[in-house]
Amino acid sequence: MSSAPAHEIILVPARDALRQQCYDVRIAVFHREQGFPLDTEIDDLDASATHFLLRLTPSLTPVGTIRCTKHARYYKLSRLAVLADCRRFRLGRALVLALHAHVQQDAQHSGARDGDAVLVRAHSQLPARGFYAKLGYQPEGEEFDEDGAPHQLMVARLPLSD
Ligand SMILES: CC(C)(COP(=O)(O)OP(=O)(O)OC[C@H]1O[C@@H](n2cnc3c(N)ncnc32)[C@H](O)[C@@H]1OP(=O)(O)O)[C@@H](O)C(=O)NCCC(=O)NCCS
Repeated sequence: MSSAPAHEIILVPARDALRQQCYDVRIAVFHREQGFPLDTEIDDLDASATHFLLRLTPSLTPVGTIRCTKHARYYKLSRLAVLADCRRFRLGRALVLALHAHVQQDAQHSGARDGDAVLVRAHSQLPARGFYAKLGYQPEGEEFDEDGAPHQLMVARLPLSD
């Protein structure tokens, strides 16, 4: 694998215009490349989600995104996308690790203690299961349909420590 292009990952502040760049990456990948409907790409979770944007430096070209939502007993990873030309440079991995760092920090601020584990759930498209497995996610339950495509619940248990 050749080395990754220079890049940065930023947490997009709430109501920031950069949110649209996250949506643009998602639309390129999930709608134009994979054929999912455009009208359901932006969903109910987007308003409350924490969005991350990966962009090349120094051009600031957006090429990847991921979002995190907080639920009663777990965090959810969703809408992970890296533009096709930029795959296999470990940028997807970098986005998941940025989300994990955010989750661990948020859980600690919410009162979780060292030794606790925090759950992150992802609904993986079947071809992406191996990607999540490399990041410590394990399959749970049966395959299911989501947006017309088969998915698998993948779960990571992140340790909390200083
Ligand atoms: C899934 C996706 C985000 C991966 O991004 P990426 O930047 O190409 O992945 P990385 O280079 O960070 O891969 C990290 C590791 O997972 C492996 N990997 C990547 N995609 C994989 C796949 N589909 N199956 C198995 N392993 C995979 C890589 O080889 C790498 O392994 P290594 O650490 O041993 O070298 C990207 O392929 C994508 O956007 N796909 C289309 C959208 C999509 O399916 N999103 C997920 C929805 S659930």
